[in-house]
Amino acid sequence: MEISSLKLLNFRNYESLELKFSPKVNLIYGKNGMGKTNIIEAIYMLGITKTFRSNNDNIVIKKGKNIAKIEGTIKDKIINNYKIIISNAGKRIKIDNNKIVKISDYITKVNIILFNPDDLKMIKDTPSTRRKMLNIEISSINSEYLLLLTNYNKVLKQRNAYLKALNKKNNYDTSFLNILTEQLVTLGLKIMLIREEFINNINSYISAIYYEITHKGNLKLVYKSEFLGKTKENILKMFEKNISREIFLGKTLFGIQHDDFEFKVDSEIVKEYSSVGEQKNSIISFKLAEIKNIEKKLHKKPILILDDLFSELDSEKINNILALMDEEMQTFITTTEIHLVDKNLLANSKIFHVSEGIVEEE
Ligand SMILES: Nc1ncnc2c1ncn2[C@@H]1O[C@H](COP(=O)(O)OP(=O)(O)O)[C@@H](O)[C@H]1O
Ligand SMILES: [Mg+2]
Repeated sequence: MEISSLKLLNFRNYESLELKFSPKVNLIYGKNGMGKTNIIEAIYMLGITKTFRSNNDNIVIKKGKNIAKIEGTIKDKIINNYKIIISNAGKRIKIDNNKIVKISDYITKVNIILFNPDDLKMIKDTPSTRRKMLNIEISSINSEYLLLLTNYNKVLKQRNAYLKALNKKNNYDTSFLNILTEQLVTLGLKIMLIREEFINNINSYISAIYYEITHKGNLKLVYKSEFLGKTKENILKMFEKNISREIFLGKTLFGIQHDDFEFKVDSEIVKEYSSVGEQKNSIISFKLAEIKNIEKKLHKKPILILDDLFSELDSEKINNILALMDEEMQTFITTTEIHLVDKNLLANSKIFHVSEGIVEEE
């Protein structure tokens, strides 16, 4: 799939901007702080409805303005016009001027794989950051997943509140708690299986990709979940055994809200062992494995965005990464260092120069 044109109004440092893209490589270059990431952020937001740079989407509205608009023509099997309007009144999302209410469907339509230097968080940060990232990646290819997750979180909240209420009583009847436990475990197991399958799928590609880039080591993801490898009966027993502890603490003790995963090269944990460059290569390998997974599962090519890929990587690794790129896949590359870009790639790219919010095609 491809985005053929983008129109911005009051988005970040752009008051109004209209761009037409190449279906192949688009190279966006300019000094730091000029507005390169803002362009690819708009493309990402059009696909996922959220920015990757903040929990607050209103941050993208141009300073001093009340409303921002992103509009894009996206070609998949057919051509559609996608539009997101962001204001204090919330977000409005439209496809061909039809209002979209079900976000879980919308976000599976446009498949974007983004690499951004901030993705190192996926290795360095807490499990909660990793779960958030995993949720976004899976939601964008599986529309059932977000609904399961929303329902799970509702039941979890309700169950925690009920445990707190039971805590205040001396005598209690656990029949309602048992219903909530049953719901929590049923939904949790479904989510666990989807996460496990996703990570297994990534693992079927990631090691070979990492080896192509680094020529050493065997990279894999290790999924960690309290529900992993357990049957529903096992899990319900685990809850049963701990019921008084849960009531005492007023909190659900087990579930997929604690899930995590880690990157391992051979037997070493990447977070603890690897250099920043190696961590970056691990993340890039993950993203390229996601592309393979989308091609296999959804029979289409996603849009690839590589934001500031060249910083901190040596030119040999960069060339190995570029060699893995698919010429038929629409790709956006931002960089401050146009002289680092391979001559062949340069010759085959549409080039945009960004300076203080002004974009010129070259
Ligand atoms: N809501 C906003 N309104 C106006 N300008 C903004 C807004 N958010 C960010 N900016 C400006 O955008 C610029 C950063 O653009 P960015 O795309 O991140 O640069 P880079 O070219 O380094 O990727 C900064 O100068 C920042 O001040
Ligand atoms: Mg940037």
